[in-house]
Amino acid sequence: MTMPHLFTPLAIGPVTAPNRIAVAPMCQYTADDGSMTDWHLQHLMSLGMSGAGLVMVEATGVERRGRITHGCVGLYSDANERAMARVLAAARAVALPGTLFGIQLGHAGRKASSQRPWEGGGALLAEQDPWQTVSAFAKAFGPNWHTPEALDESGIERSVAAFVQAAKRSVRLGYEVIELHMTHGYLVHQFLSPLTNTRTDQWGGSAEKRMAFALHLMDAVKAAIPSHVALGIRIAGSDWIEGGVTIADAVALTQALKAKGAAYACVSSGGLDPAARIKVGPGYQVDFAAAIKQQTGIVTRAVGMIVSPEQAEQILATGQADQIAMARAFLDNPRWGWHAADALGVDLHRPPQYDRARKALWPGEALKHG
Ligand SMILES: Cc1cc2nc3c(=O)[nH]c(=O)nc-3n(C[C@H](O)[C@H](O)[C@H](O)COP(=O)(O)O)c2cc1C
Repeated sequence: MTMPHLFTPLAIGPVTAPNRIAVAPMCQYTADDGSMTDWHLQHLMSLGMSGAGLVMVEATGVERRGRITHGCVGLYSDANERAMARVLAAARAVALPGTLFGIQLGHAGRKASSQRPWEGGGALLAEQDPWQTVSAFAKAFGPNWHTPEALDESGIERSVAAFVQAAKRSVRLGYEVIELHMTHGYLVHQFLSPLTNTRTDQWGGSAEKRMAFALHLMDAVKAAIPSHVALGIRIAGSDWIEGGVTIADAVALTQALKAKGAAYACVSSGGLDPAARIKVGPGYQVDFAAAIKQQTGIVTRAVGMIVSPEQAEQILATGQADQIAMARAFLDNPRWGWHAADALGVDLHRPPQYDRARKALWPGEALKHG
């Protein structure tokens, strides 16, 4: 039997994932001043043994004001680093052999200072300890949102330096993969999109200048980390709104970042403007991933409403992407990888403590005792 694509190894720059299944980054909004808590302990221990070859840790604020909510994880203090080290060590201790761990470094820009989703998800109210947000341009995300301060030269350098510091902490923590968050309407995306960047200096004004922040960031982080760590990007294939980022922009951005050493691109979309009309459906961002892969040749991760093993396998088999990320499917079923292996006829290693749960072993099990 030939091995299904989903379970073949994937080289991502200097590292190799044992299979092509990735857990997408997922904010848990449960940190304490940026420090991971026991919630993250169970979350990442569980996902570490999920059968995914790569587990991406949630969007991690590179500075305090760059967190989305009061509950978002950060990596801007020694306390943050210590808390993350505890969680990561525990997750690695139970992870399936070869599982890679990656961290997504981000800055929320004008979408910072928000309520947790279950608190409403809007801008923090005056009595909820809001903070001053920053962006490429002094334009709020929407009505009732904070008006950000446009970053000046020193503010831009401060943000880039914060990414660099957080990347160095990530290397110390032993992550195999570092991802720069350039989509979902957060700070880097705010520089990239013509809808949120109307600057006329070296950081805006033309498509090329709108990319300058992302390119500068890539150079700075790349120079600060060793070559054995894979540095990748998560980008928007589209803003889904007239006048916003298009797939042609995304291809140009990926080409430029690949030339600077980006090892992979995870292709998502949206989040920039609340007026966007996203055509959501099964695999709705896969066409963007396919365009990025075909036109840039970068290792490409597809994500978005990919749910079944057969759907994931089909995307890989047709050459539309190299790796599949899933978010909600893993929240719903943190053993997704085990079940995908069963469905596709693959003998995936499970922890021996749980091996008796293999469906194929159930007949006859009643005769044995533990
Ligand atoms: C609870 C939750 C938290 C998320 N947090 C992040 C995040 O930290 N960074 C990010 O880039 N995307 C985040 N996303 C988006 C997912 O990574 C993913 O792109 C999206 O959910 C679509 O994939 P899915 O259909 O498999 O859920 C989050 C999604 C969910 C459901």
